[in-house]
This record gives sequence, structure tokens and C-alpha cells, in this order.
Amino acid sequence: MQLLEIENKLHDEVRQGEAYAAISDTASAYKKYFYIESYGCAMNFSDTEIVASILNSNGYCATRNLEDAELIFVNTCSIREKAEATVRKRLTEFRKLKEAKKGILVGVLGCMAERLKTKLLEEEKLVDIVVGPDSYRNLPALIEKAETGQKAVNVLLSREETYADISPIRLDSNGVCAFVSIMRGCNNMCSFCVVPFTRGRERSRDAYSIVAEARDLFGRGFKEITLLGQNVDSYYWYDEQKDKQVTFADLLEQVALIDKELRVRFSTSHPKDITDEVLFTMAKYENVCNHIHLPLQSGSTRLLQLMNRTYSKEWYVAKVDRIKEILPNCTITADIITGFCTETEEDHQETLQVMEYCEYDMSYMYFYSERPGTLAAKRFEDDVPLDVKKRRLQEVVDMQGKLSSKGNLNDIGKTFKILIEGNSKKSDLDWTGRSEQNKSVVFPKGNYDYKKGDYAMVKINECTRATLIGEIIR
Ligand code: SAH
Ligand code: SF4
Ligand code: F3S
Repeated sequence: MQLLEIENKLHDEVRQGEAYAAISDTASAYKKYFYIESYGCAMNFSDTEIVASILNSNGYCATRNLEDAELIFVNTCSIREKAEATVRKRLTEFRKLKEAKKGILVGVLGCMAERLKTKLLEEEKLVDIVVGPDSYRNLPALIEKAETGQKAVNVLLSREETYADISPIRLDSNGVCAFVSIMRGCNNMCSFCVVPFTRGRERSRDAYSIVAEARDLFGRGFKEITLLGQNVDSYYWYDEQKDKQVTFADLLEQVALIDKELRVRFSTSHPKDITDEVLFTMAKYENVCNHIHLPLQSGSTRLLQLMNRTYSKEWYVAKVDRIKEILPNCTITADIITGFCTETEEDHQETLQVMEYCEYDMSYMYFYSERPGTLAAKRFEDDVPLDVKKRRLQEVVDMQGKLSSKGNLNDIGKTFKILIEGNSKKSDLDWTGRSEQNKSVVFPKGNYDYKKGDYAMVKINECTRATLIGEIIR
């Protein structure tokens, strides 16, 4: 194949969502192959797709095989000590590859890069490139610098960068669901949290570019879009063309209006910021999914204050009541931390009580991990012993198990509209997909002519803790 032809073919493949090219027939078209893996939240995953796009348009091509790569990148997370430990362990595995093949460069991207900056180069000798979340445009130049044998670092945070103009390359996508980042950074100084330090100030992305990206995805066959931000409800962008502000409720509406067949989700909502307008928009558009991720963190007002969450237990519970009033079929999920500084047995009991009251369908649950530089690390003693944190976490996990089972049993006999995401893990004869409420559903393909990306009406017959099992009824 001619070089130009190969480049066009690759470009098409990338456009179609196949970001990885076969090494054999295309090697000459690219400067180098890169391998990239991500840790942490969906925003980080979404950033990896932005990085892949920047690298791709600068002559680098993604490979799934670590062994083929000359550039190895890890997009890292700092949220808990364990997240960083996982990355450090992974880095040691790259050492062997580096020793075996000369010229391999290793880059650390994302939150850990931002938190540790040049310290990372001192601590992890094999690392050549360190790039924070707002400096990805600089990556091609940093690679060139590292190729000359110098260490390359850019950890500048920005007040403006949103990568609005970059069309992310969908890596390992199922071709049905995609993340669209609508804002970056966070202005909420929750005392336990490292994100404001690793991601910088909050800024919202141009609404037109968000809608254009969602429309483009739909045109390419994607059926579900999740709008992402640390605190989506504080999205705020000024539309100069129309001389008016765009709130999250407005944005949600604009994306919902792209097409009825396009499902819209969002994450994460902060209990202090989610408005009635958002709830009414969810109620108005059938394709905006009835699911809200509403992190609780703790059920004790005293602890919530220490956490600087700016809401009380009563405020949180009232929000949940309001959601259930406006959206009776909405599932609510949460994040919970056990063993935060000074947490007593009574505080912990309050968390369990709020969980029970809210009937969460699912939660992400953690024990508190002190992060250097955060307000909590500076002000409070990390005084709950590890075994107590873990025991409380187990009680929270058990409570969630009970609530999830109850919620799933309650769904038996009901019919849900399921977006088919692909074959089930266990059998090619079964489909897997999710309900609007974000519950995983597995069901036999039967004699129906459905394919990935179609909607099917599925009646639920049985369940496990994590999955509903049903049959297609039409
Ligand atoms: N922006 C989101 C959450 C982002 S971090 C929000 O405000 O809800 C995801 C979750 O990690 C948090 O909700 C919290 O439950 C957990 N988390 C953050 N920092 C933590 C820490 N230091 N120790 C344990 N869990 C933490
Ligand atoms: Fe962290 Fe709080 Fe911001 Fe969420 S809202 S990212 S928990 S500081
Ligand atoms: Fe982790 Fe950074 Fe996300 S710390 S949770 S990757 S914003």
C-alpha cells in the first residue's frame, strides 16, 4: 500500500472507533507506536482518549500490545494511597521491558504526575516523561525532548484548557456507549480530596463543542452518552452568540434533543448543586436516564462539616425525597467513606441509617485514606485505626448488599427498555445491556433479530446481587 493510502485507511479506522492499527501493514506510516493504560475515574479514561487523539494527529499510533510499543504511558490516579501504589507496582513491570529494548520511553500522565511533579522522576528512575492533566497538548514536544535523553516535565495547570476542539479517539469502545467531558477541575474543597490539587480550577467546556461531539458520536452509531464532570451541576458557560448563560439543565436538554434514540447520562452530581431544573429536564425527556449518582460520603452532619461537603444529613435526605417525588423511577447511587477523622460509632451508625433510608441501588465504598496536602491532612488527625475503618467499611458493604438485593428483587416481573451493549461475559447466546436505571441485565438472544446498539424490551425473571436476568418480550 502507498503511504497516503495507509494513512487514509488508518484515519478511517480511527474515525470508525477502531483506534488500533495492525502493526504489520502500517508500521511505516507512523513515527512510533504507543501503549496507554488508565487508572482512576471516568474523567481520566476520557482524558486518555484525548491523549490518544493528540498523539495520533502527531504521527503516533496506538497499539494494544505492550511489547510492540516504543512509548508507554500510564494515566494515573491519586485519589487514595492504594491507587498510587497500584501505579507504582505497574511501573516496576515496565522496567523489564525497558531493559530488554533500548529507546523505550515511559510517561506518567494525570493526577499522580500533577501531585508529585519532578519528585516522580527522582522516585521512579525509569520514568522519562511527566505530564499533568492540563498539558497534554504539549505531549508531542515532550516526547521529542525525552528522545534526546533529557527528562521532560510539564505539570502546569490551566484556568482555560478544556480540550474542547479535540475529537477523542474511542479506545476499546463497545461502539455503543461513550463518555463526553463537559468540564474540568473542581472548586469544592472537600477536605479529604486531592482532586482540586491535581485537576485545578473548575472550568466548563463550550456547549456547542459538547453538542457537536455528542451528535458526531450518534452519527457513528453510539447510543449512550455520559456527560462527565466532578460536579456537573455547576456547569456554567456563557453563550456569546445568543448572549445568555447555559446551565447544566440547558446543556442536558440540548444533548437530549439530538435524537430520541440517544440515551443521556451524567456523573457526578454534588448534593448541594443539583437543581430542580435538572430534575424537571430529566422528567421531560425520556432519553435522559433516570439515574443519579449522588455521593453521600457520610451520614453524620458533624462529619460532613469536617469534610467541607457544605450540606447536612437533613439537606441530603431532603434532596433524595425531592428526586423521588419528581422522578419516581429514578435509581440513586452513592459514594461513601468510612473512618474519616474523628468518626465515632454513632457517626457510622448514621451513615448506615441514611443508606437504608435512601435505598441506594449501588454504592462505591471506601475507607478514608489520608492524602498529603489536603485540608484534612493539614488540619485533622487521621485517628480512626485501620481495623476500625475496615470493619465499618465491611458493615457499609453489607448494608449495600442488602439494599441492592432488595432493589433487584423488587424489579422481578417488571419490564425495562434495555440498550444492548454486546454479548454477555458468559455466553454468546446471551446479550448484556443496561436499563435506564443503570442496572446490568442479561437475557437470551432467542429468535429475535436484535444487534448491539439496539433497544429491547426485557422482562425480569430473576436476579443476583449485581445483575438482573430476563427475557425479551419485544
Ligand atoms: N467529584 C465527585 C467524586 C470524585 S472522587 C464528588 O464530589 O462526589 C470519587 C470518590 O472517591 C469520592 O466521592 C469519595 O467517596 C472517594 N474519595 C475521595 N477522596 C478520598 C480519600 N482521601 N479517601 C477515601 N476515599 C476518597
Ligand atoms: Fe473531590 Fe469534593 Fe471536588 Fe468531588 S466535589 S472532586 S470529592 S473536592
Ligand atoms: Fe483519580 Fe484524578 Fe480521577 S485523582 S479519581 S484520576 S480526577
